Amino acid sequence: MHTTRKVTDDLYYIGCNDRKLERFENLFTLPNGVSYNSYLIMDEKVALTDTIDADVTDQFIENINYVLNGRNIDYLIIHHMEPDHGANIKRLMDLYPDMTLVGNVKTKKMVDQFFDFDCEDCIQIVKEGDSLNLGSHTLTFYMAPMVHWPEVMVSYDEKDKVLFSADGFGTFGALDGGIFNDEANFEEKYLDEARRYYGNIVGKYGMQTANLLKKAAGLDIQMICPLHGPIWRSDLSYFLEKYDRWSTYTPETEGVLILCGSVYGHTMAAAEKIALKLKEKGVKEVVLYDVSKTEVSYLIAEIFKYSHLIFACATYNNGIFPKMADLLHDMKALALQKRTVGIVQNGTWAPASGKLIREELESMKDMKIVDKQVNILSALKAAQESEVDDFVSAFTESMK
Ligand code: FEO
Repeated sequence: MHTTRKVTDDLYYIGCNDRKLERFENLFTLPNGVSYNSYLIMDEKVALTDTIDADVTDQFIENINYVLNGRNIDYLIIHHMEPDHGANIKRLMDLYPDMTLVGNVKTKKMVDQFFDFDCEDCIQIVKEGDSLNLGSHTLTFYMAPMVHWPEVMVSYDEKDKVLFSADGFGTFGALDGGIFNDEANFEEKYLDEARRYYGNIVGKYGMQTANLLKKAAGLDIQMICPLHGPIWRSDLSYFLEKYDRWSTYTPETEGVLILCGSVYGHTMAAAEKIALKLKEKGVKEVVLYDVSKTEVSYLIAEIFKYSHLIFACATYNNGIFPKMADLLHDMKALALQKRTVGIVQNGTWAPASGKLIREELESMKDMKIVDKQVNILSALKAAQESEVDDFVSAFTESMK
């Protein structure tokens, strides 16, 4: 049974959900699954935009056959070669031997790397601004390198005013029948996962994403068809504004995110105390996470969201508590920047986490570190109340 839906008169959604996959890229948990989107443009020529992950091939082929209804595929447009979209290229070529691949020079190199066939004569190379006429629809190609791989490109259909945006504007989370953004409450159902997807998958490439947004601003876009998550056909400015913030590492929310790495709970007790005092001081948004309990991809998403961060961390093997070290490593790898940060250090003998965290943060761009630091020797003592108060005062002062 097919699982397709019509998007416009000539455009069909033929993507598939994967609700079984535990981890996207074998890294990021998927509590609500993921959709792999693919589209068929049924014009005088038939164009398929991207294939999908190998895990859901059977449903994908059934969807293609249903929409084609006996016709052939003329072009396979390859916007992105990552295997969650490119896995079925060879399978499709075997099924539709007359089909021409369409990609750029970097696409071709990756086709050669991932597959064993000679693709010299089967790919049509396009570059920035080139067009492909399908009859009444013409696709124009724009390169979007590093959003999220170097070969990524997007395409724009002038007739329907559709942008095929590759990984851009995607989200984790399967589509529950509603393939359009306005068929679900996006903010409730998808926003957190869209931020987690952006931050962890594309987050490192803010400048490149901002460049893509600049190109998109010059087009009359009525619909965005991403490779994951809902199709945007209304309120596009809402999601564009989110992308504008995320790509420039601009926080969405003025608030304090406390990230705590605690071995036996003493550092956590200090973090709890600081959270209470921040609320007493009137800080509206305070959230606290145990970095051992929450997967790092969720913490990264929260760092993209909040303006102020506090790292409360035990010393471990003369270094930073490992789960906190993982988080800092990811923050650096994803180019996180432009945050105000406070540090709480704990150690029983030779405490070092504070100094080491400071060094990590100083190696990131535009991190403003609050001078005051809370220093704990094993456990926070009642006599340290004024030290905590001074830290909280300095921290809230930085929020003014
Ligand atoms: Fe959805 Fe970069 O692949």
